[in-house]
Amino acid sequence: MSEHRDSRAELRQTPSGEEPDRVLYVDPDATQLVTFQRTMRDEPVNCRAVTTGREGLRLLDEAPHAVLLVDLVLPDMSGMEFLARASRLRPEAVRVLVLDRLDGETVCDAVNKVGVFRILQKPWDGSQLRNAVRRAVVQHRLLTDNHLMAIRLQEVNEKLHVLNRELDATVAERTSQLLLSLCNALDLRDTDTQWHSRRVALYTRRLATELGVAGEELRDIERGALLHDIGKIGVSDTILLKPGKLTEDEWTAMRRHSLFGAQILAGIPFLLRARQLVAQHHERWDGSGYNGGLRGTQICIGARIFAVIDTFDAITSDRPYRKALGHAHAVAEIRKGSGTQFDPAVVAAFERVRAEEWEEIRRHSADPEVAPD
Ligand SMILES: [Fe+2]
Ligand SMILES: [Fe+2]
Repeated sequence: MSEHRDSRAELRQTPSGEEPDRVLYVDPDATQLVTFQRTMRDEPVNCRAVTTGREGLRLLDEAPHAVLLVDLVLPDMSGMEFLARASRLRPEAVRVLVLDRLDGETVCDAVNKVGVFRILQKPWDGSQLRNAVRRAVVQHRLLTDNHLMAIRLQEVNEKLHVLNRELDATVAERTSQLLLSLCNALDLRDTDTQWHSRRVALYTRRLATELGVAGEELRDIERGALLHDIGKIGVSDTILLKPGKLTEDEWTAMRRHSLFGAQILAGIPFLLRARQLVAQHHERWDGSGYNGGLRGTQICIGARIFAVIDTFDAITSDRPYRKALGHAHAVAEIRKGSGTQFDPAVVAAFERVRAEEWEEIRRHSADPEVAPD
C-alpha cells in the first residue's frame, strides 16, 4: 500500500505546464483496452490503446511515449517483435510486457533481448495496473533526467577543457614574456652581445624552416635559441665580463652555463624541447663539444641548427677586439667546420639562404617592436 502511495506522489510531481506522459497499451482484446482506459481515467497520464502492432508503431512514430504496455500475442506480430521495433523507434520508452501465463524463457528473452522493465500478468486488477504504470513512468523520468544530466555534464566538461587550454596558453604566453625580459637583461649585462639572443632566435627559426621544421617543434626551437645562454645568469661577472683571456678554471665555470640553463628551465613543462637545445647548444657534430660530448644525431636538431647560427652571429657582429666580418667570410668559416663542428646537412641548408635575407633578419631583430614567439 505504501509503495502504491509513494509512486503516486512522485507521479504528481510532473512539472506544471508540461504535457502529461503518454502511455500506450497494445492488446488484441478490445474489452481489455476499455478496462484499461477506465482504470487509468484518474491518473495524470495520457493513455492510448490500440489492438494491433502496426497501429501501435504508427502512434510511437508520431510522438514520444513514456510507457509501453504490450500483450505477448498480437494479431499482426508478436509482442516481442513489437517491443524490438518500438525500442528502435523510441529507445527512451519504458517497456512493460503483459502475459497470460508466466513462462521463464519468455520472461528471460523479454528482459535480456528487448529490455523489458516489468512483467504484468493477466488477469490484472486495477491496482496492479496502476502500480505498474506509475513505476514505469517514474523509471522513465529517472532515465530522462539521467540522460539530460549526462548531456549537461559533457557540456560542462567540454567548457572546462576549453578553459584549461586557454589557461595553459596564457601561462605559456606570460612565462615566455618573463623569459624574454630575462634574456634582454642578460644581453644588456653582456654588452658585447646586445640583441644577440633575439637575433639568433630569428636566425634559428629561418634555418629550421629551411630544414623543413614546422609547427610546435619550430616554436620550441626558436624559444630554445632565445634562451640558449640563460644559464649565464649563474656565471660571475668577473668571468663573464673579463676583458682578457680566461684561465682554465674560469673556462670550466663558463662552460657550465649550458647546464645551469637546463636546470633553470627544468620546472617548466612547455619548455622541455627548448630546454634540450639550451643543454646541448655547445655540443659539436664530432663529439668534441660540451657538456655531454654528444655526437652526430645524438645532438637534437635544434642544437645542431643553433651551433651554425651562433657561429654565424659571432663572426658577423662587432667584437671588442675586431669589427664585424662579412657574410662571405662567415660562410667560408662555417663550411670549414662542416662535418667536424657542424652537421653537414645544416651547413648546406644555411648556404641555401641568401645573404640579403640574413641581413634583413639582422635589421629586423634590432627593432624593439619585434619579439620572437
Ligand atoms: Fe652559450
Ligand atoms: Fe650565445
